[in-house]
Amino acid sequence: MFRMIKKVLAGVLLIAALLSTACTKKTEETKEPALLLGFSQIGSESAWRIGNTRDIEESADKYGISLMLENANQKQENQIAAIRRFIAYKVDVIAFSPIVEEGWDNVLMEAKDAGIPVILVDRDISTEKEGLTTCLIGADFYKEGVMAGEYLIRKADSLGMEQVNIVEITGTENSTPMRQRQAGFFDAIAGDERMTVLESIDGDFLKSRGEECMRYLLKTYGDTIDVVFSHNDEMTLGALPEIEAADFAPGTDIIIISIDGGQEAIDVLKQGKINCVVECTPKLGRELMETALLLKAGEEVDKVIHPEEQIFSDETDVSQIAPRGY
Ligand code: AHR
Repeated sequence: MFRMIKKVLAGVLLIAALLSTACTKKTEETKEPALLLGFSQIGSESAWRIGNTRDIEESADKYGISLMLENANQKQENQIAAIRRFIAYKVDVIAFSPIVEEGWDNVLMEAKDAGIPVILVDRDISTEKEGLTTCLIGADFYKEGVMAGEYLIRKADSLGMEQVNIVEITGTENSTPMRQRQAGFFDAIAGDERMTVLESIDGDFLKSRGEECMRYLLKTYGDTIDVVFSHNDEMTLGALPEIEAADFAPGTDIIIISIDGGQEAIDVLKQGKINCVVECTPKLGRELMETALLLKAGEEVDKVIHPEEQIFSDETDVSQIAPRGY
């Protein structure tokens, strides 16, 4: 009798479990996403970019936003094709990080004609046309360049340097961070007669290019180089082994200034081989999702959203910098 009751109970529990799974499945299936967002990412050229993609994916999940993410593998034509696919798919909002500033007018006109709002993430575009995009969510690259230049002036003062020879390894030509970081840095050092930029060379934000550029710069300018100003951590990390292979001590014989503030560069800063890292945060996902939701609701949004950023350098105790998450 007892066995029989147990069997019936087990049967009832099994049916209850099956029913509850079916119900959960149904709720999940019928749950509508808050909106459909098409996002064209530049590529995977740096730890920064990989962290940025991860942050956007995680934020979309958190906000219940369905994300169509396309990686353009560093090609503008792939980004244009992705935006066209988003338009054909009738997404609610389009977002993209333009690899360079020029060349977007036609595809953005198509998005405008389709009534789909466009958000710029990380980088800006250059256009004569009004109203192609709604807003820009990204770092103040000009300010980052200024912070780097001002650090260098303080460093030169503290070392009593009379002449400062700089080589600059820049990010992708015609991209917003390349243009603005350079402009900010040059403006900051312009009034200081000790400063000479020996050469600016395009490192395309890539580690392999940072390596090649540094090899060339060392061959050309040898021990006259006092400073390397590199537009991102990836290129800096490529340049450092070349400097050591040429028998110079980075951080001591040559002042190293980098931008991004990823974990690997911060670890090297702690070892004293990088002197200064200006932060550029890739964590733009929350702002992106909140802005997309506002646009879907037909609300006004801020034209420019810059995250707060800081500087890490040998002027302070760097041993306690918290884990960076990218
Ligand atoms: O646009 C931001 C820049 O792009 C970051 O500094 C760099 O690391 C990335 O590739």
